[in-house]
Amino acid sequence: MLKLISILLLLISISSISVESRCSRGCDLALASYYVWQGSNLTFISQILNSSLVPYSTTNFDSILAYNPQVANKDSVEAFSRLNIPFPCDCINNDFLGHVFTYSVQPGDTYDKIAGYYSDLTTVAWLRPFNSYPETNIPDSGVVNVVVNCSCGDSAISKDYGLFVTYPLRENETLDTVLTQANLSSDLSGLVRLYNPGANFSSGSGLVYIPGRDAENSFRPLKSSKGISGGVIAGIAIAAVVVSLLLAFGIYAKFFRKKSKTTSLLSTVSHDVSAEAGNVFGSKAAESTGTVAASPGLTGITVDKSVEFSYEELAQATDYFSMANKIGEGGFGAVYYANLRGEEAAIKKMDMQASKEFLAELKVLTRVHHLNLVRLIGYCVEGSLFLVYEYIENGNLSQHLRGSSREPLPWSTRVQIALDSARGLEYIHEHTVPVYIHRDIKSANILIDKKFRAKVADFGLTKLTEVGSASLPTRLVGTFGYMPPEYAQYGDVSPKIDVYAFGVVLYELISAKEAIVKANGSLAESKGLVALFDDALDEPDPKEGLCRLIDARLGDNYPLDAVFKMAQLAKACTKENPQLRPSMRSIVVALMTLSSSTEDWDVGSFYENQALVNLMSGR
Ligand SMILES: *[C@@H]1O[C@H](CO)[C@@H](O)[C@H](O)[C@H]1NC(C)=O
Ligand SMILES: *[C@@H]1O[C@H](CO)[C@@H](O)[C@H](O)[C@H]1NC(C)=O
Ligand SMILES: *[C@@H]1O[C@H](CO)[C@@H](O)[C@H](O)[C@H]1NC(C)=O
Ligand SMILES: *[C@@H]1O[C@H](CO)[C@@H](O)[C@H](O)[C@H]1NC(C)=O
Ligand SMILES: *[C@@H]1O[C@H](CO)[C@@H](O)[C@H](O)[C@H]1NC(C)=O
Ligand SMILES: *[C@@H]1O[C@H](CO)[C@@H](O)[C@H](O)[C@H]1NC(C)=O
Repeated sequence: MLKLISILLLLISISSISVESRCSRGCDLALASYYVWQGSNLTFISQILNSSLVPYSTTNFDSILAYNPQVANKDSVEAFSRLNIPFPCDCINNDFLGHVFTYSVQPGDTYDKIAGYYSDLTTVAWLRPFNSYPETNIPDSGVVNVVVNCSCGDSAISKDYGLFVTYPLRENETLDTVLTQANLSSDLSGLVRLYNPGANFSSGSGLVYIPGRDAENSFRPLKSSKGISGGVIAGIAIAAVVVSLLLAFGIYAKFFRKKSKTTSLLSTVSHDVSAEAGNVFGSKAAESTGTVAASPGLTGITVDKSVEFSYEELAQATDYFSMANKIGEGGFGAVYYANLRGEEAAIKKMDMQASKEFLAELKVLTRVHHLNLVRLIGYCVEGSLFLVYEYIENGNLSQHLRGSSREPLPWSTRVQIALDSARGLEYIHEHTVPVYIHRDIKSANILIDKKFRAKVADFGLTKLTEVGSASLPTRLVGTFGYMPPEYAQYGDVSPKIDVYAFGVVLYELISAKEAIVKANGSLAESKGLVALFDDALDEPDPKEGLCRLIDARLGDNYPLDAVFKMAQLAKACTKENPQLRPSMRSIVVALMTLSSSTEDWDVGSFYENQALVNLMSGR
């Protein structure tokens, strides 16, 4: 343990060496957003913000006007508007980026008044350290140093921006109004947040930094030839501290684990952990080993392997969330196709308001990994909430069953899809600690990959159930047509609500009908799929009743016995009494039996036989 602490201290001391110099050089241009108060004028502004870039003048204000194309001429500067004033951004005392202006004191001036003259580009607190005059007694002929902070960008955030406006926030402003007034797209909001970690844009005061445009009215990329900027050095220093802390923690965790032998972590399977370790885009590897996961009961719990992405990276990967990249619209946000780090991905963009759903999904998917659950790659919390998933190329089950542009799914594929999704559900119900309940199982949430294998998606409503704890009454969530009576009426939550919904999905696989079937196109005469099948299966000849409901697109290409068995399984799943519904585990077993008997294949060798597996999944 002592050794450990000394390593930690050593690491911290190493990293603190680089903290000493926070900036090595500034940049030749920054902008100060000057709020033009009533009574101020360009002469005054050029006087107090005089520098090599704005030589003080009573007549020539071209150097200011060049950065303010919205101002037609020097006489049209309006009070209560903002002007961008250029100034050089220096590395002061190797400590921070700023510029020292000199202000000639007028009778009656106080630090407070001076900060006001500068429209809060500086503050009283920030005047004190650079001036020796007592606040109450500034000599009339004195000169006050006024330091205005600045930024030169941060290559760790984006290399596209190297010119920044020092922007003092005012009352009633928000990030949106700041962006609008600076003529910046709202798509940049995430990026602007990144540059101002911890800033509250609605707080009415304080400085923030936003990308600015140069005299040619264009953004300036970060200059790489200038060497490492101050921000980067500070970043490296911070990163070093973080890394050393993580390292120390990692060492500690390893040490602790070894010692206490926490073997409660269930046995893991190769496709869960190893395929993902070190490679966030391990989907291919995971898939190729996936077929060995046939035997039920394999379990795996993995630690958080998701990655935090920057807004800018996600924006670029989706062509700035363009309509062309939009591939879906869910209850909690739009889904975009992305090309991220050379791999395909799907990105769900959610409002800040959906934070509960976001966190639920993040929690489940970072803890639970299974071949039949959609895999989370990472997330981002800048501006909006983003979840990044593996891209499943073939749409969802609902589209396959009812989309006119899709080929009808062969019966064997339907059985495989049922089995795959059952396995995903069995996993969250029976093999995770704590146990999860999906709460929104439906055909639209079952994704199909290019090999026609299925993955359960959309964990935004997932409920975590502590084993043994009574379920709390909650807001009713889910989708009508898939909700069991005890949940719709009393809000009772148990894994059996997923079982019920899964039964509805089985009926969909048989009939290709929606969960709620509109009779004569009218909602008033609509009937649940469950009731429809119940009626058919209660007829004197249930098989005859069933035949009327089987998807016409299957033609005669289905084994009626197997379809009947699946219908009986669905009927069991959708029993009114939740206790009489089977568990996901027995459903998986039933579907495995069904899938092996669907064709007259040798059951014993089935799961070792890749060719047969391929055949069955329609390849
Ligand atoms: C410009 O503003 C300053 C400060 O308010 C004021 O003292 C000065 O008289 C003004 N000059 C003109 C020409 O309006
Ligand atoms: C304006 O700033 C420049 C550069 O810092 C300096 O040389 C010049 O003397 C200043 N002019 C006035 C009037 O203060
Ligand atoms: C300028 O930056 C320094 C160092 O980061 C900070 O302590 C100070 O509060 C900032 N000044 C203003 C007016 O925000
Ligand atoms: C801010 O908004 C409030 C309410 O709309 C208004 O009363 C107040 O004058 C505004 N303050 C400023 C500085 O515009
Ligand atoms: C705002 O920016 C766009 C391009 O980003 C530019 O075409 C437009 O002229 C700008 N508007 C103003 C008022 O500067
Ligand atoms: C930001 O500041 C405003 C005004 O002071 C406050 O109402 C709001 O709660 C703050 N927001 C956050 C996230 O702290």
